Amino acid sequence: MASHPNLTILDHPLIRDKMARLRDEETSPEDFRRLIAQVAGLMTFQASRDLPVVETTVRTPLEETEEVRLSAPVTLVPILRAGLGMVEGIIALMPEANVGHVGLYRDESTLKPVTYYCKLPPFVADGPVFLVDPMLATGGSAIAATEVLRQHGCEDIRLICLVAAPEGVLAMGEACPDVRIFVAALDRQLNESGYILPGLGDAGDRIFGTR
Ligand code: PRP
Ligand code: URA
Repeated sequence: MASHPNLTILDHPLIRDKMARLRDEETSPEDFRRLIAQVAGLMTFQASRDLPVVETTVRTPLEETEEVRLSAPVTLVPILRAGLGMVEGIIALMPEANVGHVGLYRDESTLKPVTYYCKLPPFVADGPVFLVDPMLATGGSAIAATEVLRQHGCEDIRLICLVAAPEGVLAMGEACPDVRIFVAALDRQLNESGYILPGLGDAGDRIFGTR
C-alpha cells in the first residue's frame, strides 16, 4: 500500500461511476472532457473542506444572521496540458479563484519532467493553491510543479489528481510530505513506459483528441 502522510482517496459512488466511464476506452473526447470536469468538481468538495473562512453578518430578507465567507484567495494551478481539463469543474464552484499555469511534459525516454511555461498570479502565496493534474504516475511532474510553487512562496498546496500510481504517491511522500493529495483512485502500478495500470491511458491525448 502506497503511503503518504496526507493522502485522501475519495471513494464515492458518484466519483466511481464517472471514473468507470473515464477509464472506458470507448469514451469519446467530448464525454471524457465533460466527465473529467465533473469528477474534478466533486473532488473539490473534499479538498476545500477546511479552507480558511472569516465570520460575517448578512441580512436575509427576514433578519440578520451570522455566516462565513472564504477569507483567503484560492489559486487554481493546472499542470499543462491535461490539468486544463479539470479547471472548468473547479472554477464553477470557486469562481473568484485566480488561475496560474505551469507547463510541464514528461520526456518519453527518461520520464523526467521538462518545464516549459510558468505564469502565476502575483499573490499566489497569500492563500491555498489547488494544483491539479489528472495523472500522478512517477510523481516527477507533480514534484517539479510543487517546487515551482515553493519558489514563489506557496505553503498551503493541495494536489488533486484523478488517478495515482503507488510509485507517484511514494515519491510525493518523500519529496513533498506536507502537500495534501486528493485522488479519486489509487491504481495498481506503472508499466515499463510509465503509464498507470489499469489507469485511463494518456489523459492529455484523450482530452484533446491528439492521438
Ligand atoms: C501527463 C500527466 C502528468 C504527467 C504524469 O502529462 O498529465 O502531467 O504525465 O506523469 P509523471 O507523474 O510520471 O510525471 P504529459 O507529460 O503526458 O503531458 P501532457 O499533459 O501535455 O499530455
Ligand atoms: N500520464 C498519463 O496521461 N497517463 C498515465 O498513465 C501516466 C502519465
